[in-house]
Amino acid sequence: MKQEAFSKPVVRRRIKGSSAAKGESDSTKGCGNSNNYLQAIIDSLEDELLVIDRDYRIIQANEAVLIRHGKRREEVIGRYCYEISHGVPERCHPPHHECPIKAVWETGKPARVTHAHVYYVKGEKRERYLDIIASPITDSQGNVTAVTELMRDVTAAKELESKIAEAQRNLLALNTIASVVSQSLDLDTVLSSALDKTLEIMKANTGGILLFEEERQLLCYRVHRGLSDTYAGEMCLSLGEGIAGRVAQTGEAILVEDISVDGRAARADLIAAEGLRAFASVPLRSKEKVLGVINIASHKARKFSSGDVRLLNSIAAQIAIAVENAKLHQEVQRKEKVRGELLRDIFSIQEEERRRIARELHDETSQVLASLAASLEVAADMLPASADKTRVTLRKAQTLSVGILDEIHKLIYELRPTLLDDLGLVAATRWLVDNNLRATGIRVSFKTVGHERRLPPQLETTLFRVVQEAVFNIARHAHAKNASVNLRFKKSVIEVRVSDDGEGFDIEEAISSKDRPRGLGLLGMKERVELMSGILSIRSHPSGGGTEIDIKIPLNYEVSSE
Ligand SMILES: Nc1ncnc2c1ncn2[C@@H]1O[C@H](COP(=O)(O)OP(=O)(O)OP(=O)(O)O)[C@@H](O)[C@H]1O
Ligand SMILES: [Mg+2]
Repeated sequence: MKQEAFSKPVVRRRIKGSSAAKGESDSTKGCGNSNNYLQAIIDSLEDELLVIDRDYRIIQANEAVLIRHGKRREEVIGRYCYEISHGVPERCHPPHHECPIKAVWETGKPARVTHAHVYYVKGEKRERYLDIIASPITDSQGNVTAVTELMRDVTAAKELESKIAEAQRNLLALNTIASVVSQSLDLDTVLSSALDKTLEIMKANTGGILLFEEERQLLCYRVHRGLSDTYAGEMCLSLGEGIAGRVAQTGEAILVEDISVDGRAARADLIAAEGLRAFASVPLRSKEKVLGVINIASHKARKFSSGDVRLLNSIAAQIAIAVENAKLHQEVQRKEKVRGELLRDIFSIQEEERRRIARELHDETSQVLASLAASLEVAADMLPASADKTRVTLRKAQTLSVGILDEIHKLIYELRPTLLDDLGLVAATRWLVDNNLRATGIRVSFKTVGHERRLPPQLETTLFRVVQEAVFNIARHAHAKNASVNLRFKKSVIEVRVSDDGEGFDIEEAISSKDRPRGLGLLGMKERVELMSGILSIRSHPSGGGTEIDIKIPLNYEVSSE
């Protein structure tokens, strides 16, 4: 198809020497005048109008035609329509230029087509679209004698239409990318699915995503398709190096028709071995920071359109957000792991320290106190009958030291009940309940269900500390009449329920209270249980409905030993 230069026709809306222009009526004029008038009407049309005979020769043309083609009327009349319209020596034919005139001659009915005209302005390709309505002119017998062609420039509408179509395509593509990348928070899964979808959208099968590694200060492939492992493994670039390095440094996309001859490319040997030609590299930018680049390549030279660039940039922005989220998630997970390890260490150091203090209190302080009490008793007995007052004082001191001894024994137990180490969770918990609830007048039910057995020391300590906190809370805050502690030993899980019929409390308020250290007890319980991969749930009814705490911890060691 011949390409033709077009300039937008400027149609002068005037009726040359027409009677209408002078406000005269056609009916009042003669035949010459009526021809002029008719010509004036068709010349006043903004659309182009041709009248064409059976041989495809132009027998009539309006001024819009003359202006667009820059010709005088006598240069147009008598010429073939396709010569004037397309500058070609042959009739219009599909697929680009279907001839509507042929259809009108054959059917006697109007026909409508759209012709695309390609032309160049300063070497740049442009397209112009003409909507053509061809209609028959018939004689009194209804025979077609000529055909009119009314041509309207619909380029602007077509451009708008294709912009809307492109926007729709892009939206659809972005939607797909967004939904694909939001399905996971795992970085590698996000990158893989994002790359696959992008290649599908760009109708390509070669490409990859490179991420910038802060520690090594290198941009390396994290996922790739259609590229060899050698290429992806060796193509690690520093900022500014090669095409992807430049993109990561400047944050601007680079598109090349043929990377094999592009001086900016790094590792020409790898590129040649891979046979890469067209190459698009787009930054993955999030909050002004370039996280990496996405490369789309092809083994054939290809020119990426400005629409491709826009689409790739939007896709890359979506991927960058997903990458950022996945990285943050990864970081949170890493920190959570470190926090868990630290907590575990803290709890075990705390437990060790309690054990040491309890031992010291038992071996040193309580021994000294016991011998002090014994000595006081002996001293009191040895006093002569006349020293009654001193005896009374000594006896009081002895009673006091026995009382302190009792307190110290209780403290030793609370610090680290030897029962827990010696007899296990059930005995230690029973002691806890008796000494802290029953002793204060609360009616307590203590039950165990299932196959009662020793559990790993760390698990027994966790459960004991959690029940201890729950029991202390009942004693300190609940004002309960009744309480119950139930331990249920199952095959692969241990369940504990501590409940009371006290005044209850607002859990949210207690946990989020800024009045620290209040509320650390409940948080500590939760932390301890979660460290053992367990679940702790609290239900409380603030207006006197009591509180119920459920703990479930899997017995993984049992599962694995089975
Ligand atoms: N069984 C309960 N009945 C009523 N209120 C409770 C009960 N358990 C906890 N609470 C309320 O929840 C609050 C928080 O309990 P938490 O154990 O976290 O902290 P605390 O007991 O006040 O202090 P500590 O950090 O020493 O344990 C308590 O102050 C109390 O108001
Ligand atoms: Mg507490």
